[in-house]
Amino acid sequence: MTVAPAVSTTLPSAILPAQPLTALAPMQDVTDLAFMGVVAHYGAPDYFFTEFLRVHSMSRPEKHILRSIDENVTGRPVFAQLIGEDVTHLARTVDELLRHPIAGIDLNLGCPAPKVYKKNVGGGLLRDPEKIGEILAALRAAVPGLFTVKMRIGFEDTRHFDRVLDLVNEHRVDLLSVHGRTVKEMYRSEVHYNFIAHAVSRVRCPVLANGNVTSAAAAHRVIGETRAAGVMIGRHAIRNPWIFRQCREIFAGRPVMRLTLADARDYVERLYRATQRPDLEERYHVNKMKKYLNFVGQSVDADGAFLHAMRRTETETELFAVCDRHLLAEPTREFAPEPYPGVIARPNCETPNTVADGCSLETITA
Ligand SMILES: Cc1cc2nc3c(=O)[nH]c(=O)nc-3n(C[C@H](O)[C@H](O)[C@H](O)COP(=O)(O)O)c2cc1C
Repeated sequence: MTVAPAVSTTLPSAILPAQPLTALAPMQDVTDLAFMGVVAHYGAPDYFFTEFLRVHSMSRPEKHILRSIDENVTGRPVFAQLIGEDVTHLARTVDELLRHPIAGIDLNLGCPAPKVYKKNVGGGLLRDPEKIGEILAALRAAVPGLFTVKMRIGFEDTRHFDRVLDLVNEHRVDLLSVHGRTVKEMYRSEVHYNFIAHAVSRVRCPVLANGNVTSAAAAHRVIGETRAAGVMIGRHAIRNPWIFRQCREIFAGRPVMRLTLADARDYVERLYRATQRPDLEERYHVNKMKKYLNFVGQSVDADGAFLHAMRRTETETELFAVCDRHLLAEPTREFAPEPYPGVIARPNCETPNTVADGCSLETITA
């Protein structure tokens, strides 16, 4: 399959064109080349988004993020996400990215990490609609193809929401993803789907609904409730990479594929091999795996026994021994479609992390 060129001005069609769209949400330290490949193996979303490329006077597009664009073999388009506020350097970065096979440019108006929003970028910009207008105008002028925006519904409240939606119309944004929380609500509050529905009715472009889309059934419900053009899914695609395929099944009115613990074991193995690098020492690799498995564990057992044991492993052998014990003892038992209530992926993101300078698995849980 071919990837849409950057100058395309129409949104790529869905894998099943009559269906609502699905997208893998951009996630720093997660949505890299390896993870996108693993997700595509189990059933690609319609669209991928890179983790954010930082833009400032000294920035150059990060090499590992460019790899997720240049070496993309998923057959599905990848939008490159930018975070920044300097219009000159945003436009320069667009020029650089246009040399790569991107589907379009996405602007981050949502990152809630204090170190980010204090620089007045990401979610911090939602306090300043005038500045957003300036950035949207500059990016619209710089991007010959698709220009998309991902936003939250406000900073500490929703007072500027309508103004920002009107700017999205004024600057002819091609696709809007709305995470239905304010910046201050971080990642674990209720999601305000009524605000996403409001965005759908106010903007002219298609809207992707984002936030706590936990399963195909939830995707179906959220689309019904918001009338959004599709869903964007983040943490629950880490837990369940089959989720996009399951969405296509439910959208088609077909039964949703039932997953087993043996399927989850297959996923862990594939993810381990895909994320292995010669320069990554075993114990660091195991630690990296634990960050993904924090989410996977939410569907393994209601007591969190897998998570408890998994967190204590230090080597590949120990990690897979735990996986075998918890996932292959009853291989046909169901890998739960929804996370078990109360099984929390640690650490707790509700404690604002003032050290981390972005959104990373260190700080964000479900
Ligand atoms: C580990 C992690 C990293 C994230 N990094 C980004 C990012 O680089 N850019 C962005 O716009 N949002 C980022 N987000 C937010 C997600 O894209 C998404 O909006 C949020 O997780 C809510 O969706 P979910 O409930 O489906 O996970 C990140 C979220 C997580 C969990």
